[in-house]
Amino acid sequence: MEFKKKTIKELATSSSMRFLLFGGKGGVGKTTCAASTAIWIAENTDREVLILSTDPAHSLSDSFAQDISGGEVVPIQGIKNLSGLEINPQKEFKKYQNSIQAGDIEVPQELQMFGDFQDFQSLTPPGSDEALAFSKVLEFIQTPDYDFIVFDTAPTGHTLRLLSLPEVLNSFFGKLLRFRMKMGQIWGKIKTLFKKKGAEDEEDQLAALNHMKEIVENANRELTNENRTSFIIVMIPELMAIYETERLLSLLLEYEIPVSNIFINMIAPPNPHCTFCQSRHTMHLRNLNQIREIYKDDFYLTEIPLYQTEIRGIPALREFSKFIFQ
Ligand SMILES: Nc1ncnc2c1ncn2[C@@H]1O[C@H](COP(=O)(O)OP(=O)(O)O)[C@@H](O)[C@H]1O
Ligand SMILES: [Mg+2]
Repeated sequence: MEFKKKTIKELATSSSMRFLLFGGKGGVGKTTCAASTAIWIAENTDREVLILSTDPAHSLSDSFAQDISGGEVVPIQGIKNLSGLEINPQKEFKKYQNSIQAGDIEVPQELQMFGDFQDFQSLTPPGSDEALAFSKVLEFIQTPDYDFIVFDTAPTGHTLRLLSLPEVLNSFFGKLLRFRMKMGQIWGKIKTLFKKKGAEDEEDQLAALNHMKEIVENANRELTNENRTSFIIVMIPELMAIYETERLLSLLLEYEIPVSNIFINMIAPPNPHCTFCQSRHTMHLRNLNQIREIYKDDFYLTEIPLYQTEIRGIPALREFSKFIFQ
């Protein structure tokens, strides 16, 4: 499968483009690259931008030096047209549990003596928290509220795996839905027993399942369309990172996610006065040459130097974006 190569600037300014996903190993600079790209797009195009973190090891708050960990979309202070959200699986899960306990399933007094019906946690299939985080991502892929969404993804490729529909329906999402259906049926029976109602509930659950399937299929279409989506791999100039990148690339290929950019971050600068720094620089240049050889024909490579300090706060991120968009 061949995708048309596009520079990051072409992607960021294309009017059809909607999703940029940043991925790579932990600590290579995904969040920094995603955050500064989001700032650039918000400040240099007229689009409403959302930066969305699906990495459980969130660092958007750190990167922007602003607390956005509340689980709700918040405007990024100082940047017009930019909002941020860190999806918190645990928090989403709590909300879901509360909603079950509060509304979906109220166990009649008469039945409570038969067992601890309130303990729904034990009935929840493993992976439900990821499923909920994923359904949140789906919600944002559907939403017309943002023109452009920059994803700061988890290093495991979870986000991608979840997009393969059959797998999704069989695993996380499917488990959750089957669980909901089962609970619906149980409650349906309980209700028939006590309130003479139930059949129509089951139909609702089935309709919900089909609706979810449509949403996942739609998301899949969006994320495999090269005019809508592009994945940016972030790596560092070390040999181990090449293996990582190969693994990520084959996963992206498998799920047909378009990718045309690789960022090589944290390249050690030369320093003739420091033997240690100089030898790291030499090593990085050697690896960089190898990386260029392997990838230059198929991808645009962006090389970013290692800064003296960490990149934190909007002025630093804006400065950093110059390397990306030069
Ligand atoms: N080019 C760079 N030079 C110096 N520090 C960097 C650079 N890129 C990222 N950092 C810093 O490295 C740390 C990890 O970056 P981060 O973007 O959080 O990585 P990830 O999201 O991949 O785990 C942060 O403290 C960030 O400020
Ligand atoms: Mg991060």
